[in-house]
Amino acid sequence: MLKTSVAFFETTEKEKKYLKKKFDKSFELFFYPEELNETNSNLIAKVNILSPFIYSNLNSKVLEKAKKLKLIATRSTGYNHIDIKKAQSRNISVATVPYYGENTVAEHTFALMLALSRNIHKAYVRTTRNDFALAGLQGFDLKGKTLGVIGAGSIGVHVIKIAKGFGMKVITHDPKPNHILTELLDFRYVALEELLTNSDIITIHCPYNQHTHHLINMNNIQLIKKGTLFINTARSGIIEPQALYYAIDNNIFAGAGLDVFEGEELLKEENQMLTKNVAVEHLEALLRRNILLRRENVIITPHMAFDSVEAVERIMDTTVENIKSFLTGKNYHKVI
Ligand code: NAI
Repeated sequence: MLKTSVAFFETTEKEKKYLKKKFDKSFELFFYPEELNETNSNLIAKVNILSPFIYSNLNSKVLEKAKKLKLIATRSTGYNHIDIKKAQSRNISVATVPYYGENTVAEHTFALMLALSRNIHKAYVRTTRNDFALAGLQGFDLKGKTLGVIGAGSIGVHVIKIAKGFGMKVITHDPKPNHILTELLDFRYVALEELLTNSDIITIHCPYNQHTHHLINMNNIQLIKKGTLFINTARSGIIEPQALYYAIDNNIFAGAGLDVFEGEELLKEENQMLTKNVAVEHLEALLRRNILLRRENVIITPHMAFDSVEAVERIMDTTVENIKSFLTGKNYHKVI
């Protein structure tokens, strides 16, 4: 019997073990820890189904090598790492994982918020040095504070629900308001300017695109009151880097919790920098991140808001469903 060959890229040993259990003997499975790109595209010459994560680059040259490919089942919501036009022209379907971690990203948002509001990161460093002094560690209550949520979609709504549990007031900016939600969850939709002016904490949950590029910028940063906390678990390009540094330097942001930061994708292979010819943009990104890291009131996490045991299992389960439904002609989360 001819087996269906499936190649998974960017998989850990744990994911490999989990995924192996989900397929029977009619599948031939290949697992690669590395990303798929032009340098290793020979690996997919005979593959029928391909499952990458977001750091693989499925451009036209890579797809050209995959002569037997029928489906790309990306293990992510976004698919901007796949040349959709090229896939379409080659009659290759693309499937995604639309929902997997609304609560997961929302919980990480609060992890960053609480770390900053209660100075957990500073206390941790001190106590590891056997220093138990309280000076400089006084925090503030979330209860009664105004949270400004930019983008009230799947993740933003979870953030609003959690905020209500803390007794916070919530204002939201979203071009597509859902008025049933405002009644259910007790929050208000406002213009971006009003949100920036009146929030004690601002958190970003809109997508990054041409409309949201530098949504917060040097022109509107002055609207934000001094001492506001800023949390970004969406994408770095939504705030103009210059505005971020200006706000931190001038105490407009009393603290920033960033799961995403400018140039993060360039810095992933930082350990290879010494052996490679390094582009100026890599060095600039490294320098800017170091400037942020030196600040006591900035917490950076390495784009990990999605990464909980449960969310990663949900991603894998949906991917397996996508693959099996594609093969049996059932509905799946299809992009093209
Ligand atoms: P979603 O599509 O459910 O919600 C996005 C919301 O943003 C929608 O309600 C939309 O109307 C709104 N929006 C669009 N343009 C806007 C604008 N100009 N101003 C304000 N709101 C606007 O998306 P979801 O699932 O809530 O994800 C949000 C973002 O979170 C994703 O686009 C992604 O960049 C990021 N993300 C980050 C992860 C991480 O690990 N750090 C993991 C998953 C998502």
